[in-house]
Amino acid sequence: MANMFLMPGMVFIGEDALESSREELKKLGRKALIVTDRMMGELDNVRRLTDLLDRIGIRYGIYDGINTEPTDSMVEEGLRIYREEGCDFLIGLGGGSPLDAMKAIGVLVTNPGDIMDFCGKPVIQELPPTVCIPTTAGTGSETTKSSVITNQKTSVKMLVSDPKLMATMAIVDPLFTITVPKDVTVATGIDALTHAIEAYTSKKACQLSDTQSISSVRRIFANIRTACINGSDKKARSQMAIASFEAGIAFNNSSVTLVHGMSRPIGAMFHVPHGASNAMLLVRSLDFIRPEAAARLHDLAVAIGAAKPGDGIQEGAAAFVEETRRLLSSIGVKGIHEFNIDQDAFYRAMDKMAEDALASGSPGNSRREVRKEDIIDIYKGLWQDALAS
Ligand SMILES: NC(=O)c1ccc[n+]([C@@H]2O[C@H](COP(=O)([O-])OP(=O)(O)OC[C@H]3O[C@@H](n4cnc5c(N)ncnc54)[C@H](O)[C@@H]3O)[C@@H](O)[C@H]2O)c1
Ligand SMILES: [Fe+2]
Repeated sequence: MANMFLMPGMVFIGEDALESSREELKKLGRKALIVTDRMMGELDNVRRLTDLLDRIGIRYGIYDGINTEPTDSMVEEGLRIYREEGCDFLIGLGGGSPLDAMKAIGVLVTNPGDIMDFCGKPVIQELPPTVCIPTTAGTGSETTKSSVITNQKTSVKMLVSDPKLMATMAIVDPLFTITVPKDVTVATGIDALTHAIEAYTSKKACQLSDTQSISSVRRIFANIRTACINGSDKKARSQMAIASFEAGIAFNNSSVTLVHGMSRPIGAMFHVPHGASNAMLLVRSLDFIRPEAAARLHDLAVAIGAAKPGDGIQEGAAAFVEETRRLLSSIGVKGIHEFNIDQDAFYRAMDKMAEDALASGSPGNSRREVRKEDIIDIYKGLWQDALAS
């Protein structure tokens, strides 16, 4: 069967990617809306970008009101500023949150309505040109057709997904990630690892997504520890930026599965950072899918050197889950009890969270059938892990 394979329109990747992009950037429009968060201003990243725009004669407006959970009202505000400033293209600068918000603003520029109207529905009109400049190595939003936006009224993280959301240009400069603090490096790095593993173990995996997944998993296992311990190690940061990009390509052309399905409700209801909720769910979810996904997990074990091609499939799969457990513990992944969550409130919310997880469609892409009871068991398991730690 043939597959459609999506990539951003143009990619600049490596040190000084921003500078290298200038001739192409110039062609995208006259005035950009830069969508970002306040931290990017404090770190001088906004100035790096505006210096370049000044030099190439592109005017800009700035909307820096995005936080770690972009909402429908932030998207509305961004649209208002885009129109008020008379912009004709968009640049997202930051982690996944500003990039997702930027893409959602782009949807509304040409498609009238509320952003929630586009959840699970096709986007009809082309967006204005969009540029993604990631400053974390994690979400891969610069490579994806997706935008995750929280519906403020229902506290549900909604997914807008359509090939029209693919960025016109991705500028991946690993030097932006040098300043990422350790806990964000851990969470975003494990988000990328989860993308790569889920893409590989998804029922929707295809050969080209497999290539990206395997390469990404290998790179992350080899570099994430250094990136976490010594954030200024340029080589580790570069490798993580590439791995995050590969993982984004992989899941964008395959899918995410159980972990992401279960992670979004934890983020929306208890405000746990996306990568951190993935990290706490990852090992239990791998153990759950293992009976049906053993051959795929065995491949990943071979990729990281935890098994040999001729080893037993079940042993290889178990070795991969064990190596993942070790990796997470060595970089200090946090348990659910470390996020100030009331356990009773979590238990009361579990039924709704399980339904929201299933309704997202992601768990259904797993190789093992996932029932609501299975999801609730894994949610409960997070608290057992907390007791054991
Ligand atoms: N579109 C997609 O395909 C996709 C995929 C996965 C996740 N997501 C979404 O992405 C969001 C999470 O993105 P994220 O994990 O990158 O985090 P984020 O964008 O929310 O940023 C996390 C924190 O790190 C800070 N930060 C970012 N870059 C920094 C830098 N270079 N130096 C210092 N601090 C920096 C930010 O200011 C923020 O405080 C979630 O909303 C998630 O749902 C989207
Ligand atoms: Fe993710």
